[in-house]
Amino acid sequence: MNAKRTGVPERVRVELGERSYDILIGKGLLSQATEYLRPLKLGKRGVIITDTNVEPLYAGALCDALGKGGFAAEVLSLPAGEASKSLRQANRLFEKLPSYGLDRQSFVIALGGGVVGDLAGFVAASYLRGLALIQVPTSLLSQVDSSVGGKVGVNLPQGKNLVGAFYQPRLVLADTDVLKTLPKRELSAGFAEVIKYGAIRDAKFFVWLEREDKRVLALDPEAVAHVVRHCCEIKAEVVSADERESGLRALLNFGHTLGHAMETLSDYNGLLHGEAISMGMCCGARLSVKRAGLSEAEAQRLCGLIAASGLPTRLGKSFKLGELLEAARLDKKARDGKLRFVLLKCLGEAFVSDAVADADLKEVVDVCR
Ligand SMILES: NC(=O)c1ccc[n+]([C@@H]2O[C@H](COP(=O)([O-])OP(=O)(O)OC[C@H]3O[C@@H](n4cnc5c(N)ncnc54)[C@H](O)[C@@H]3O)[C@@H](O)[C@H]2O)c1
Ligand SMILES: [Zn+2]
Repeated sequence: MNAKRTGVPERVRVELGERSYDILIGKGLLSQATEYLRPLKLGKRGVIITDTNVEPLYAGALCDALGKGGFAAEVLSLPAGEASKSLRQANRLFEKLPSYGLDRQSFVIALGGGVVGDLAGFVAASYLRGLALIQVPTSLLSQVDSSVGGKVGVNLPQGKNLVGAFYQPRLVLADTDVLKTLPKRELSAGFAEVIKYGAIRDAKFFVWLEREDKRVLALDPEAVAHVVRHCCEIKAEVVSADERESGLRALLNFGHTLGHAMETLSDYNGLLHGEAISMGMCCGARLSVKRAGLSEAEAQRLCGLIAASGLPTRLGKSFKLGELLEAARLDKKARDGKLRFVLLKCLGEAFVSDAVADADLKEVVDVCR
């Protein structure tokens, strides 16, 4: 572990040919934003898209920093929460943008969590056929996952992320200082994606998380810096190898087939993404014991770490199996109507399987209630 001192960001590179970019991770990056934007040779005008929770906390500081560097940005704010990742909110932004005098050199800064990042990215990808996108993730989830890799889009009432694009940012600025205002429940939800990386790709990291989870959740600066950097390294490696999810990248969907179905069935209200995938990962662990030879002991360690991080492991009674299956079949991961699941051979090693039968799911969902 080597968290650097304040002001010297760590850098993780996403290698994608001419679309390569840096992820900068460090303390106090928000106030130094122009230093990092300048080399991108953007136009002077842009918009900052944020939400109603993040705007009063950080939009002012970012605007001030941009202003000192000669940039001018309007702030556009969405109601906080998953329900804003909608065509309705995207359209509201599209209708406002023409009045800001933007041109194709203009930029869009996504300042917020994954909801803001996905929606602002979608807007940036579409408006004037593409404006430069800068991700400034402010939740743990967005710093370790959603701001990297270029998946942008919105939900439909029928399913998560059904409308969208692959559109890489030009830069990701992850200022770890801002996590101090993130509500505890949101911090845990972000930790779910952190656990996911260990489970699918890095057994040693998983063991580290079992030991250090409390330090991360207490926002120990060194532990947080390590987690954000390491998760970004894993994601950067996966995205560089398989940008459009024809193989390796699909592993990042561990827990997401059922998790997305649960979010859809909750009308994107009340259940956080990280909570839904926590339950999805526990079902995934059980399916993996049945179909992929995961040991019972490792399945229990995974569910144990999820529970110890304040995340749900059991579905309760609210989701009916038939509805879960129906919602899951609309997921982008299904092929010819057949569900595909990411399973674990062991902690740290995953693969995609289409050998999971409805009967397996019924059994597993019953066990995980
Ligand atoms: N594009 C991808 O590759 C990808 C990957 C994973 C998840 N996602 C998406 O990300 C979304 C979830 O992201 P999220 O968990 O960040 O949710 P979010 O954007 O709703 O943010 C969580 C909550 O925390 C608040 N918040 C954010 N930063 C804060 C801060 N520093 N201080 C105080 N409050 C703050 C937000 O206002 C919001 O209420 C889901 O829509 C999910 O599908 C996308
Ligand atoms: Zn996710």
